[in-house]
Amino acid sequence: MIKFTIITLFQDALEPYLKTSMMWKATEKGLAEFDFVNLRDFGLGPHKSVDDAPYGGGDGMLLRCEPVFAAIESVKATDPEAKVILPTPVGEIWTQKKAREFAGTTNAHYIILCPHYEGYDERILSIVDYKISLGKYVLTGGELPALIMIDSVVRLVPGVLGGEQSAEIESFSDGDNLEYPQYTRPEEFRGMKVPEVLLSGNHGEIAKWREEHSGTV
Ligand code: ADE
Repeated sequence: MIKFTIITLFQDALEPYLKTSMMWKATEKGLAEFDFVNLRDFGLGPHKSVDDAPYGGGDGMLLRCEPVFAAIESVKATDPEAKVILPTPVGEIWTQKKAREFAGTTNAHYIILCPHYEGYDERILSIVDYKISLGKYVLTGGELPALIMIDSVVRLVPGVLGGEQSAEIESFSDGDNLEYPQYTRPEEFRGMKVPEVLLSGNHGEIAKWREEHSGTV
């Protein structure tokens, strides 16, 4: 069982994906659990404010420490072992290797803090275990990175994918190998033919062809 608690202002943006297809099946099978914490519940003052202007000036608003710490501490009160992930464009780049590490930890509980606005008060990093970047580009918030991390981890949890082999033989899984090209019926579509060797029934030759046609990153 792997658990993700997502601290966000936009639960509505996350829930549909996590209630669909493999993510939903993973929860139905009891292999994954997704929980949400509304950061707004920990906001300050009558407006439940969670952000403020940066000291020193500049555009945009920053997530404040108080609501973030209170939200994280509310989760840690019931599970002190839970680890905090902060999606940020200046974090460590997310890779299949990282997804495997996270999926391979038994009974792991990850808290994903989704920043919004222009950024966050740097002191928030003192309560964060992993700073993760999904790539060298800037998104408006941590929700999409959270979904990508969750999807790539949960599909690796044993029992989640239909064919037990699928995750193992698939793209990236043994280092840098990309998946080989695959075909299904019909044998010919608009003049494009399935490579002969795949129809040959010669498993040795098929394995060789696949090896030769595997991509790398
Ligand atoms: N937040 C904004 N951009 C991001 C990125 N590229 N990766 C992770 N978190 C982000």
